[in-house]
Amino acid sequence: MAPTQYIAPVTDSTAIFRQDLFKSKVLFCTGGGSGICKAMTEAIMRHGANAVIVGRKLERLTESATQLSKATGSQCIAAQADVRQPSQLKDAVAKTIEKFGRIDFVICGAAGNFLASIDGMSENAFKTVMEIDTLGTFNTVKATLPHIRASHGSYIHVSATLHWKGTPYQVHVSAAKAGVDALSAVLAVEEGPRGVRSNVIAPGPIGETEGMSRLSAYPKEGGEKKEVQANSRYPLGRIGNLKDVANAAVFFFSPAAENISGQVIAIDGAFEHLRSFQLPYPQALLDPESIKHMIKPRL
Ligand code: COA
Repeated sequence: MAPTQYIAPVTDSTAIFRQDLFKSKVLFCTGGGSGICKAMTEAIMRHGANAVIVGRKLERLTESATQLSKATGSQCIAAQADVRQPSQLKDAVAKTIEKFGRIDFVICGAAGNFLASIDGMSENAFKTVMEIDTLGTFNTVKATLPHIRASHGSYIHVSATLHWKGTPYQVHVSAAKAGVDALSAVLAVEEGPRGVRSNVIAPGPIGETEGMSRLSAYPKEGGEKKEVQANSRYPLGRIGNLKDVANAAVFFFSPAAENISGQVIAIDGAFEHLRSFQLPYPQALLDPESIKHMIKPRL
């Protein structure tokens, strides 16, 4: 009988890295009020860092900051800013310095997304996402760089994998995230000599996120149940989990990644590498006998 498909376990970074790994460190995270960025912030705080989460909606941010502080035992405060407004970001940085005195880690995560075709999207809609994702990342780097230089700190930019191929209804996000990837590479080489690192985390499909429920057909296909069942669309057997992304962030900010910069790392269980297969997947690999009739013997 063919073996069943492997399902990657979900691990918590506190089971692997020291609890006090980031003691006395400070994280500045745009988009930290919800979703993937909130999960990354929580993981970094669980290792002792204090954090400032930045976003447009003060009420949601404040609520999230309280939750994060309670859940982790570290301190989190909210700073309201639109990443498209450099002066608001500078105020958020000033608030961080006033409260915590330093910034060691920055996550550039604020992003906008909706489904729209090139034909069906206004020029302003395209510009809006470019401004939030790409310009917002540049503005965040500009506002924080003096402090990151001072601490020999590190950046993580939240990108995507969808722009590696042509993804319909995602031209704005594809162009914007390609810009983020390029920006990070330049940042890595320009600031490396001053002890600053910059890497990109590119989440593939991640369950339990607003992006998956609003921008894909995923929940309609099977909901939460599907996350624990083997899913043959993923070589490692399952859709991404928020913890997968959070663990990557802990690693990139940790001294274990001291000589890693300018990289783009997909967190997708090899999903992006799998082309629509000409043979049944993964049966063709787990049970080669089942496709033997399709393989011509050598002449
Ligand atoms: N489809 C097509 N166009 C859209 C759109 C949609 N779903 N949502 C916004 N736009 C267009 C608007 O129509 C407008 O263009 P117009 O002036 O030509 O009409 C332009 O984008 C700006 O929209 P607006 O709502 O004024 O901008 P905003 O700065 O307030 O918000 C977003 C922009 C992207 C943040 C907003 O669409 C949003 O709140 N999205 C949901 C949150 C989100 O994206 N989270 C990211 C995690 S997945």
